Amino acid sequence: MHEVILRVENLSKSFATTTGIDLKILKSISTEFVKGKITMIVGASGAGKSTFLHLLGGLDRPNDGKIFFKGENILDYSESQMTFFRNNNIGFVFQFHHLLPEFTAAENIAIPQMINGISLKNTSQRVMNLLEEVGLKDRKNHKPAELSGGEQQRIAVARALANNPQVILADEPTGNLDSVNSQIISNLIVQLNQKYGTTFIIATHNKELLNIADQVLEIKDGMINSK
Ligand SMILES: Nc1ncnc2c1ncn2[C@@H]1O[C@H](COP(=O)(O)OP(=O)(O)O)[C@@H](O)[C@H]1O
Ligand SMILES: [Mg+2]
Repeated sequence: MHEVILRVENLSKSFATTTGIDLKILKSISTEFVKGKITMIVGASGAGKSTFLHLLGGLDRPNDGKIFFKGENILDYSESQMTFFRNNNIGFVFQFHHLLPEFTAAENIAIPQMINGISLKNTSQRVMNLLEEVGLKDRKNHKPAELSGGEQQRIAVARALANNPQVILADEPTGNLDSVNSQIISNLIVQLNQKYGTTFIIATHNKELLNIADQVLEIKDGMINSK
């Protein structure tokens, strides 16, 4: 079935600069994402890839335009509705894993569920399943500093999956990894996409990741186009 899960309409984003001239990063872009597909967002450094992902996930707001998630414009949401939307529907993976250093791998994966009101005790089964999913069951009590870069990123993927999101937004998920670990992350994305039908939207420079894409979009001069 061809169901559009996210659709953006005439989205514009500018940042104010110290010189007073607005930096127009996204200029009235429109595009859509089909449920269950993997999309790569490419473009030069500074083109606006991260900015676009932040807008899609409700982490930042545009100057103009609409973002429909399953037909509802998320920009109509209040801040608390936006947080609820984000916690329940979107998983984030960043270039630098952003795991909390004081907590174990298992606790880092449990945190998004606890934010959603589930007790630590009741998260444990799901945490174990997620650790198994990313092949790191035996690392559950390791702190981030006791994990390799590739393992940290796999824990970050497991954390992104914690609340069973429909969409995962990944910003340069292999940007900090060698080719072997990049391949592991790439395989993991395909595995999760096939098993759960999760929609992936991934900003990347990694040419190998493009192999798993159903769709490649390029951001250039504030516009977005299929490649
Ligand atoms: N919060 C911000 N304030 C001002 N300028 C920003 C901000 N975030 C991003 N920018 C600018 O917007 C442009 C696009 O940034 P970004 O989306 O991070 O690009 P990419 O991820 O494609 O490398 C850059 O020129 C960057 O300096
Ligand atoms: Mg970026």
